[in-house]
Amino acid sequence: MTSDNLEHLDDDLDSVLADVWQRLGRAVSDRRAAMHTPVVATIGPDGAPSQRVMVLRAFDRGTATLRFHTDARAAKVNQVGPSGPVSVLCYDPGAKRQFRLSGTAGIETDTSAADQAWAEATLFAKRCYLADPAPGTVSQTPVSGLPANIEGRKPDDDDEVAPGRANFALLMAQIETVEFLHLAHTGHRRAVFRKSPDGDWRGQWLVP
Ligand SMILES: Cc1cc2nc3c(=O)[nH]c(=O)nc-3n(C[C@H](O)[C@H](O)[C@H](O)COP(=O)(O)O)c2cc1C
Repeated sequence: MTSDNLEHLDDDLDSVLADVWQRLGRAVSDRRAAMHTPVVATIGPDGAPSQRVMVLRAFDRGTATLRFHTDARAAKVNQVGPSGPVSVLCYDPGAKRQFRLSGTAGIETDTSAADQAWAEATLFAKRCYLADPAPGTVSQTPVSGLPANIEGRKPDDDDEVAPGRANFALLMAQIETVEFLHLAHTGHRRAVFRKSPDGDWRGQWLVP
């Protein structure tokens, strides 16, 4: 497929929204996809915005929910709280598309979904959650935060990383608005889609 084909987009709102969902789905499974690592923005208690790159772990088309993994002690978890505003920015330079997704985020630590995500995580991924003290703690020296006995090597088995489960959390972002931008020499295209209370998505073109 040439890059021209990759960039092609029908001038049709349904096709645009289908393109968004398809690319988000691919971004989960393809670790090399640019949208595999979007920027997730939250708002702190003082009203200040805060952004960070996160790995997109799952996307559920039916509920328009994105799943991310994080440390339960991380600043972003406090910022989201039980329910907080979230904005997720995805950009694929090859496809020349930017998705600006916004909605409401929640944190899950003790749900069956969190248990399942933990069970499916690799030993290396689980090792991240053994940091002590918590991520973001000031240190007098450059440190990974990992216990010395596990730093620099793959954990032997699940028992070794099991204490990390207490620090493992899901950040679930329920998307309510999708803003789409496609850059093209033939004319940029921009559209916004809002989820209506009945669950349907309504789109409108915008001037880019
Ligand atoms: C490529 C990349 C992927 C990352 N993936 C995650 C992730 O999936 N979850 C996460 O909590 N932090 C991830 N981080 C680290 C965050 O960007 C951030 O530095 C950290 O989570 C602390 O953010 P906070 O203090 O706002 O909670 C990633 C960073 C990079 C550069």
